[in-house]
Amino acid sequence: NSGHVSFVSAEPIGPPDFFNCNPESTCCLPVPSSPPTPFVTNSSAPLRTRRAIHNVLQDATYLSKLDAAYARLRELESQSPNDPRGLFQQRNLHCVFCSRPPGYGAPFSMHNNWFFLPWHRMLLYFHERILAWAAGDPSLALPFWNWDDDAPAQRALPAAYGNRSSALYTVNRRGGRDIARMLQADLTTEQLFREIGNVSDWRMVMGSATRGGALEDYPHGLVHNAVGSAMSPFREMGNLAWAGYDPVFYAHHANVDRMWSVWRGLPGREDPAAVDFVNSAFAFYDENAMVKTMTVSTVLDPATNLRVVYEDVTDSWTRPS
Ligand code: C2O
Repeated sequence: NSGHVSFVSAEPIGPPDFFNCNPESTCCLPVPSSPPTPFVTNSSAPLRTRRAIHNVLQDATYLSKLDAAYARLRELESQSPNDPRGLFQQRNLHCVFCSRPPGYGAPFSMHNNWFFLPWHRMLLYFHERILAWAAGDPSLALPFWNWDDDAPAQRALPAAYGNRSSALYTVNRRGGRDIARMLQADLTTEQLFREIGNVSDWRMVMGSATRGGALEDYPHGLVHNAVGSAMSPFREMGNLAWAGYDPVFYAHHANVDRMWSVWRGLPGREDPAAVDFVNSAFAFYDENAMVKTMTVSTVLDPATNLRVVYEDVTDSWTRPS
């Protein structure tokens, strides 16, 4: 997405003022009923384990909870359109930080810079809490679609999301066969190894204050384009303003997020320490429709403060083939 607002900052940014959205933006969120409060870690909260989509496809109980959660978010969207937990408002939350004119000011573009990974991690975290609330199961976690595994079955759109009678479905996607073909052709283990697995400098993988890193630019963008319909009107995964309206967006981002964690755990990796990175703060609606603010430093290790872990799977891109 060229033409987005980029910026240089030596000061931490945020949190955005949710009472004050640019009226020219088409993605403004409902005005909160009370001022934002800082996120506080609940160290006794149960760990949420995000599992690989291929390992949950046979788990009918899990899938029906996930489906019921999205059905509830769609129902909220039509019954109380100003509820920030509805699916359209969840879409707005992503849209408002990537649209022009920017909803809460120029510094809050969450693409093409080093806030891409932490901001989307926060988005997933709060989205997941909302899903768990909607399903009535506090341990409900997002699945991750590990398209980085080059087994052809992994490159297809996960079956649960392609079922027309499911709340996980949207019509605004390419056909399953096209998705698999595009990913099989363009997403190679060799290139993932060269651009991410084999790179220890965080600037290359995570980006910097002024440019995006390889995780965003290469596999992340490619999967968006493979899933997003190229048909007009150009919507959902192929369009950043609409991407958050497709439930598979969250499973896609869970995998980007997992790859960040895996990369970070490889020997010799370091987090950026700059204060304009770690002390920057963002804001999100939680499952009680209250605005919480969170700093980047809170989310660098998801297991500690967010109580989120990933199921282990094969990461062939972390070693030469
Ligand atoms: Cu905010 Cu996958 O994009």
